[in-house]
Amino acid sequence: MAEKEVVETSEAQIAVHWGEEEFYHPSAKFIAQANMADESVYDRFSLDNFPNCYKEYADLLDWYEYWDEILDTSDAPCFKWFKGGKINASYNCVDRHLPKYKNKTAIHFVPELEEEKVDHVTYQELYVRVNEMAALLRDFAGLKRGDRVTLHLPMSAELPITMLACARLGVIHSQVFGGFSGKACADRIVDSGSRVLITMDAYYRGGKLLDHKEKADQAVTLAAKEGQKVDKVLIWQRYAGKYSGAPDMVKDRDFFVNDVLKDYYGARVEPEKMNAEEPLFLMYTSGTTGKPKGCQHGTGGYLAYTAGTSKYVQDIHPEDVYWCMADIGWITGHSYIVYGPLAIAASSVIYEGIPNYPDPGRPWRIAQDLDVNIFHTAPTAIRALRKIGPDEPAKYNYEFKHMTTVGEPIEPEVWKWYYKSVGKGKAAIVDTWWQTETGGFLCSTLPALKPMKPGSAGPGMPGIHPIVYDDEGAVVEAGAGKAGNICIQNPWPGMFQTIWGDRDRFVDTYFARYCKDPKSKKWQDWPYMTGDAAVVAADGYVRILGRIDDVINVSGHRLGTKEIESAALVCEEVAEAAVVPVNHEIKGKEPDLYVALKPGLKASADLAKKISDTISEEIGKIAKPRKVWIVADMPKTRSGKIMRRVLASISNAQDEGDVTTLANPEIVTEIKKMVQG
Ligand code: WTA
Repeated sequence: MAEKEVVETSEAQIAVHWGEEEFYHPSAKFIAQANMADESVYDRFSLDNFPNCYKEYADLLDWYEYWDEILDTSDAPCFKWFKGGKINASYNCVDRHLPKYKNKTAIHFVPELEEEKVDHVTYQELYVRVNEMAALLRDFAGLKRGDRVTLHLPMSAELPITMLACARLGVIHSQVFGGFSGKACADRIVDSGSRVLITMDAYYRGGKLLDHKEKADQAVTLAAKEGQKVDKVLIWQRYAGKYSGAPDMVKDRDFFVNDVLKDYYGARVEPEKMNAEEPLFLMYTSGTTGKPKGCQHGTGGYLAYTAGTSKYVQDIHPEDVYWCMADIGWITGHSYIVYGPLAIAASSVIYEGIPNYPDPGRPWRIAQDLDVNIFHTAPTAIRALRKIGPDEPAKYNYEFKHMTTVGEPIEPEVWKWYYKSVGKGKAAIVDTWWQTETGGFLCSTLPALKPMKPGSAGPGMPGIHPIVYDDEGAVVEAGAGKAGNICIQNPWPGMFQTIWGDRDRFVDTYFARYCKDPKSKKWQDWPYMTGDAAVVAADGYVRILGRIDDVINVSGHRLGTKEIESAALVCEEVAEAAVVPVNHEIKGKEPDLYVALKPGLKASADLAKKISDTISEEIGKIAKPRKVWIVADMPKTRSGKIMRRVLASISNAQDEGDVTTLANPEIVTEIKKMVQG
């Protein structure tokens, strides 16, 4: 175990081999208007002032009742924030803005087809639509506080409307990324125990209207096989009043939301007064085993943390136009398209499609037309736009004051293009490092207070205190020039509460390794292990190197190698499967799949395609391997363990090191010939 982790940390170092860069400073113009330009914030949020410092974030919200206890550690490491407080997320993101902002755009929905008009949803309209949908969910679908409901919605205004309608009722939503397959959706329906599925008939991707309803049919059938009955499927329409999918509505199960909504015209639903620690949503993410984990996020803590970080890191003011190009199906979209921005009365852009449709000038036309001044995206999109349209940004007349990069390490060269070309040398950039589990940012610069360093995320956020441990548990000091496992010393309000239905896995995965005393009720004894390797420079800036566990970051999306391997094993021909990450110019990483067949079976191109298609069906197209290599045998240790490290070296054309101690060293030569020619 220890040996494997050391090896993977150093692989990560190879992958992210750049060194420390020079600082870039934000402009005086940016600093003058920034929401947070007071250096003392770092003192106010120091460990000495923990946990009371977080009152500052909670005070950005409206509470029905204030809390009695800011941090309850009695069930460590399942921490409860703002205990005794009562709050509603939908009220905070919608109702409370009406007196001042009812006529201001909350959501700009930009369809992928350029000839279609942008839909500007004001706060007043959002209020009406959220209320009517909440009434439908309560009275038509029979959903109530504490129930789970699965959403499988594409990027649309209806997605946040549905989320906020759930939040209004205290119904726990679990949104599954729209690009995921019916099977992946089914697994999440089963794990969360949802009996209602909310979807959309179709959406645009790359100029094509894709049928999405068929995935709902698959999901419901597969979930039933695993014992979870879905009794209602609620279908939004891409074009209200017109069905864009296949005409196969199941009687008494499938309903068009737009038809049913007519019965709820004018309905108003009193928001539930939720306990601060009641769950708001589940977000499934990949881990070391095949089964995705349902990260459970709470209400008061999560909303306080995302509101605070949206205000101080994203620097969103109500008069800004803010565009985060992530998908709401991932945590970035939940925290930084929907909950954080709307809690502070932002105008948030939602774009349906892909960045380069119909050409790589599209994002900059959207920015120009809506006068976007805050832009947020991932390195994979930046790399792609830089490659296919390096001169496009200069052609359009927009001006960003602020830009974000999130999701994977960004190469300094790519960062510099983002800064010079996209930001035109005027925007402050934040590189925000965080995770599905953490709800909000862990490391980032505060844009008016700290200079930028290309390739480094920056120091811990105020109130987030990182610490790096080596494999033996010794602290690696900042400036030591050594990588280690980055952990956070303290809990924070945005942190997930547990893994849905699996507290043991929560404790084992994130805390067991560096816990100082498993019986302790003190937060000081429970550092949170992020699963990333990092180097901290003497100035406290953190450079993330990549995962230490079996997770591959493809275009900023987390995929578990075990998840892909078990999908491959669904093919009856496959005896063994091993997935390894391959470096990719745009996507960062891509999975390469090695399989060994059952005895007597022959490799063929058809079979390789079948295996690849199975993975798309089981998980989704994003998990499709670069290549399926059908090999005679896997390289194995004498104890029979597959040597994924050797396969990874072969896939990346790197030196595979000494393989003479393997049980079957000759297979390495054979595989190498096959892969490298
Ligand atoms: C990686 C996405 C370097 C990291 C918000 C983490 C990053 C995983 C950065 C979480 C960054 C995220 N620099 N690496 N700025 N942001 N990562 O759960 O490995 O989809 O553990 O959350 O992405 O991915 P997730």
